[in-house]
Amino acid sequence: MLTSGRNEGGGERTMSAPTAIPYDSFIAEFYDYIPTVTVRRDLDFYLSGAREYGDPILELGCGTGRVLLPLAREGSNVAGLDISEAMLARCREKLAGEKDEVRRRVQLQCGDMTDFDLDVTFRLIIIPFRPFQHLLEVEQQLSCLRRAHRHLSPGGRLILDVFQTDAQRIHDPAFLKETPPLREINLPDGRKLVQTERTAAFHRAEQRNDVELIHYIKHPDGRQERLVFAFTLRYFFRFEVEHLLARTGFRVAELYGDFDRSPLLDDSPEMLFVAEKI
Ligand SMILES: C[S@@+](CC[C@H](N)C(=O)[O-])C[C@H]1O[C@@H](n2cnc3c(N)ncnc32)[C@H](O)[C@@H]1O
Repeated sequence: MLTSGRNEGGGERTMSAPTAIPYDSFIAEFYDYIPTVTVRRDLDFYLSGAREYGDPILELGCGTGRVLLPLAREGSNVAGLDISEAMLARCREKLAGEKDEVRRRVQLQCGDMTDFDLDVTFRLIIIPFRPFQHLLEVEQQLSCLRRAHRHLSPGGRLILDVFQTDAQRIHDPAFLKETPPLREINLPDGRKLVQTERTAAFHRAEQRNDVELIHYIKHPDGRQERLVFAFTLRYFFRFEVEHLLARTGFRVAELYGDFDRSPLLDDSPEMLFVAEKI
């Protein structure tokens, strides 16, 4: 992965090595407030998946618990795995404020979704909001799916959520420019945050884009910072994902183009695969 957490306003704040974990940076603190995240409309989809397929549930790349905690509040036993200690720390903080019965339903573990062994099986495994797109190499993608397969009980389901690739976004120079600022957010400690984003580079032969989420921070004392969360995203095409799933022992049971369970069409924003372990 690329760099994370560059402060371009007044010198470098953090600059991670190529192997570092991008989410172990300032982004863990902002994650639950930024528009990229708060506009997600996927919770009902995952809650209804939990009702349909049952628990225990494993969320791979659970982050700050945005999806995991509502699942546990609704009564599911949920395990969460994430590679970022900083994201998990936020999740633990939020979990500490939940009722005892919710806390008892949640297990969290730091680990890599391409290489984990939890010694338990699940009825449902979910990978909400792009963790799978952080797996840049085919071998990583296959390892993740094989691990998921091994951790599912017979007939268990895997829900894989990736965006449907928009052809313009993989070559059009317009996307190299910063987007207009989104609405200003008030952070709990009095800072104000405005977010923009841009594609930093296209790598079509590798099916990857380098992406930057740019954060302009105003401190209560008037100081300003520009923090860049930079990462690389792998994009997928429908039949590529179907082939990956077929190679790892899954059958695509349902396929949707959005969280309202509408069919996958040319202009659908998402590709939501509900895959059954065979
Ligand atoms: C966009 S966040 C999604 C978090 C959460 N699923 C949600 O819907 O809000 C992506 C998460 O994937 C995690 N991640 C990326 N690569 C991972 C890996 N190889 N193993 C486990 N987690 C990973 C990141 O640390 C981050 O927390």
